[in-house]
Amino acid sequence: MAILIDGIGELTTNDPELGTLRDAALVLDGTQVAWVGYSRRAPVADERVDVGGRAALPGWVDSHTHLVFAGDRTAEFAARMAGKPYTAGGIAVTVEATRAASDEELAANLRRHVEEAARQGTTCLETKTGYGLSVVDEQRSARIAAEVVDEVTFLGAHLVPPGAERKSYVDLVCGEMLDAVRDSVRWVDVFCEEGAFDEAQSERVLRAARDKGLGLRVHGNQLGPGPGVQLAVRNGAASVDHCTYLTDADVDALASSGTVATLLPACDLSTRQPLAPARRLLDAGAVVALATNANPGSSYTTSMAFCVATAVLQMGMSVEEAVWAATAGGARALRRDDVGHLRPGARADVHVLDAPSVTNLAYRPGVPLTWAVWRCGVHPMF
Ligand code: NIG
Repeated sequence: MAILIDGIGELTTNDPELGTLRDAALVLDGTQVAWVGYSRRAPVADERVDVGGRAALPGWVDSHTHLVFAGDRTAEFAARMAGKPYTAGGIAVTVEATRAASDEELAANLRRHVEEAARQGTTCLETKTGYGLSVVDEQRSARIAAEVVDEVTFLGAHLVPPGAERKSYVDLVCGEMLDAVRDSVRWVDVFCEEGAFDEAQSERVLRAARDKGLGLRVHGNQLGPGPGVQLAVRNGAASVDHCTYLTDADVDALASSGTVATLLPACDLSTRQPLAPARRLLDAGAVVALATNANPGSSYTTSMAFCVATAVLQMGMSVEEAVWAATAGGARALRRDDVGHLRPGARADVHVLDAPSVTNLAYRPGVPLTWAVWRCGVHPMF
């Protein structure tokens, strides 16, 4: 069945040829976009929805979340706001709660957060394992994630779990654990940071993943300068995420590589770190994505609109750059060409704002502006 979404005041397509259209319309046919253009030329469809001059854009692509978890870390957050620094040590608290939860509890918690994101316009979402950190718990986290989200990443190398010995834990991640999750995941990630995994250990994880034919991602340069960015670029990772502390050499390496710099402003704020240097990256020619990093420790938000507003208000990005980074940029970070843009053949993921332009995302920060969402051509009733 074809649906004509008509009366779009401003349509962000992210397509270099179509650009941004005024007085526009879109036709969705099944799960795909069938037609994009000016209202006056719109074809007839089975159903017509008039959005009354509102702005429409591709659904958000949230390329970095950690949503297979149980438990709560409000107390850790409160302590941080009172001055205690973030160290990532709280990951162990979530590991304990996640291991103790049933499959049903983990799946329900994941679905609740994915639906919360969808209500705010997120139509494509990646999530990671990394709160199981044993073969059984990582395997079930990956299986549950694969039932719910678009993209699943194995993050057995999140932290060495309490009681484990570092060298044998890396052996386990690269061997038995990777084999156990292999069929449920597309990506492997490693937290390359002081206190987590060093450069050599991280490289071992990435090589083991590549040998299994999996795509690579890296958590790097989150809490201080370090080797994460160079490691990611050298190994052809699709994305290096956080990028809060970058040297000029890191920026240059990203700019001349196919590795996306995924910035996580909600995390930088919640952990009281400086905001990632978006402007330096963009000016150097690097590809930048924005994502929420939704997780119970360092960034407990599913709001891509909050990330976009922060990027514009505090990180020197233009509205157009930030919207691109949160849609097409996320798609690049996930190496997908079906989402993050609206042109014929794209997945029918459309986000309509209760506002006449995307500028309102930064002009009206904190205001829930999602008016309607279609995901794979389906208009969910929340
Ligand atoms: O991306 N950096 C590592 N992992 C998460 C934090 C997870 C947590 O604190 O629970 C992150 O910030």
